[in-house]
Amino acid sequence: MLVRHKAWLAGSLFLLALVGLISVGFQPAQASDPLDRLLRSRLLEHNITVPEPGAPASPAQVELGRMLYFDKLLSGNRDTSCATCHHPALATSDARPLSVGTAGVGLGPDRQRGQERPHIPRNAPDVFNRGSALWTTMFWDMRIEQMPDGRLLTPAGAFLPEGIDDVLAAQALFPPTAEHEMRGMPGDRDLFGHPNELAEIPAQDFPAIWNAIVARLQRTPPYRPLFEDAYPGTRFEEITIAHVANAIAAFEREAFTLLNSPWDRYLRGDDSALSPAAKRGALLFYGELGCSACHSGPLMTDQQAHNIAVPQLGPGKGASAPFDFGRELVSGSPTDRYAFRTPPLRNVAVTGPYMHNGAFRTLEAAVRHHLNPAESLRTYTPSAHLPADLVATYQDDPAVQEALLDTLDRNLHPTTISDDEFADLLAFLHALTDPAVYTLAQEIPTWVPSGLPVAEIEARTP
Ligand code: HEC
Ligand code: HEC
Repeated sequence: MLVRHKAWLAGSLFLLALVGLISVGFQPAQASDPLDRLLRSRLLEHNITVPEPGAPASPAQVELGRMLYFDKLLSGNRDTSCATCHHPALATSDARPLSVGTAGVGLGPDRQRGQERPHIPRNAPDVFNRGSALWTTMFWDMRIEQMPDGRLLTPAGAFLPEGIDDVLAAQALFPPTAEHEMRGMPGDRDLFGHPNELAEIPAQDFPAIWNAIVARLQRTPPYRPLFEDAYPGTRFEEITIAHVANAIAAFEREAFTLLNSPWDRYLRGDDSALSPAAKRGALLFYGELGCSACHSGPLMTDQQAHNIAVPQLGPGKGASAPFDFGRELVSGSPTDRYAFRTPPLRNVAVTGPYMHNGAFRTLEAAVRHHLNPAESLRTYTPSAHLPADLVATYQDDPAVQEALLDTLDRNLHPTTISDDEFADLLAFLHALTDPAVYTLAQEIPTWVPSGLPVAEIEARTP
């Protein structure tokens, strides 16, 4: 009995060893450097992987989405497209603290506001990797949110169209409804001096605005084959704004999923993808500096709102103007005042200026702010960060600063780090850049179905 038992034990040990050998053979080379061993175990603890990119759509849907993304026909005045503020040559943003929408001229930092047009209250985020199914929120205040049961919460409430694929598609419904982003103001005339019919519709009447946009597309014959190829079985006469939004999201997912940064290659097992400085920086980020308390998980965001006491500036948002109360405007809860969704950080070295309102011009300043928010806020010098027309909008009242600090997130406390550590942290953040960010201009079409210029309008004829 005992002998048989021993033989069984020896047999199973042999099998186990065999299985072990085989599986070792299939694993990426074991980290030999102590730094890699430490970092890889830290990453395992924090569940850090390359995010899944999201399911690809058909090439026809992506191509339709590309046309819609660059077509100024979606704006009331026929002068602004998604790309105006999320431009491929500007890291899918506009390189400005606050965006400038319809009636503006020019691109990026050079874009000038039209007469009597305010800045958009917030910074235009990048749209990298937003097609991942891990996303459950959109916007700085998360006013688009997918609930655990799959329901989508949006500013349109019960008027949300049927058939919206996900939060990214839901997001695409709203820029064309926003008066200063794309829709225009009552009385506006478009690029050709014709009345802007979108601007005359009451702001709350989302379905009427969307129907008017669909009608414009249906009056543009080159869109017919594009829609019919993208949605086989749906007649062009039957398309809805959901087809438009889903196609735009399909394009964004296809064009702007960039997961080949040195960091992503390291996460896939290549120890040589990162410099030692970047590895030490990653250890600080996922260790003693506690950055990953909020910039957590594969997307580097917990998709929660936090108040990190970013200086207030700009025209302000909604009912809280001239301030921007952030998440409180959506939740109604005063504990959410000045809280904004943690931004994801891939390609962050090229997506400045930073924060929900572009308050910090450099990545260094944005990172330093976290290390001592109170000091950073109290010593903030708007002229060091902002163009002249925004300097005057900075809220320098000490009472405002104290209010910002009153509800500061508890995860942030004054932290001192050496210059070497700071350089390591920056090396890590720079390793989040996928070199493909520099060649995105190839996504820009030479032509769009409306025949409107793809480049930004450079001047307006009165
Ligand atoms: C006038 C500039 C402007 C235009 C035009 C514009 N956007 Fe944006 N976009 C912004 C700003 C500003 C925000 C942030 C607003 C907020 O969070 O309150 C934003 C947010 C987003 C987000 C959310 C990203 C995230 O992680 O939360 C996506 C995606 C996006 N825009 C895509 C689009 C698409 C698609 C279009 C065209 C249908 C478009 N944008 C048109 C300025 C613009
Ligand atoms: C308490 C949660 C929290 C912690 C901890 C945290 N962050 Fe942030 N981070 C945020 C939020 C929220 C924002 C945006 C705030 C705003 O715009 O008002 C932000 C913004 C940023 C930005 C600007 C990104 C952009 O696109 O504008 C960078 C860079 C950044 N954080 C890096 C770090 C680093 C590095 C650490 C660790 C030293 C860190 N964060 C720790 C919540 C956090």
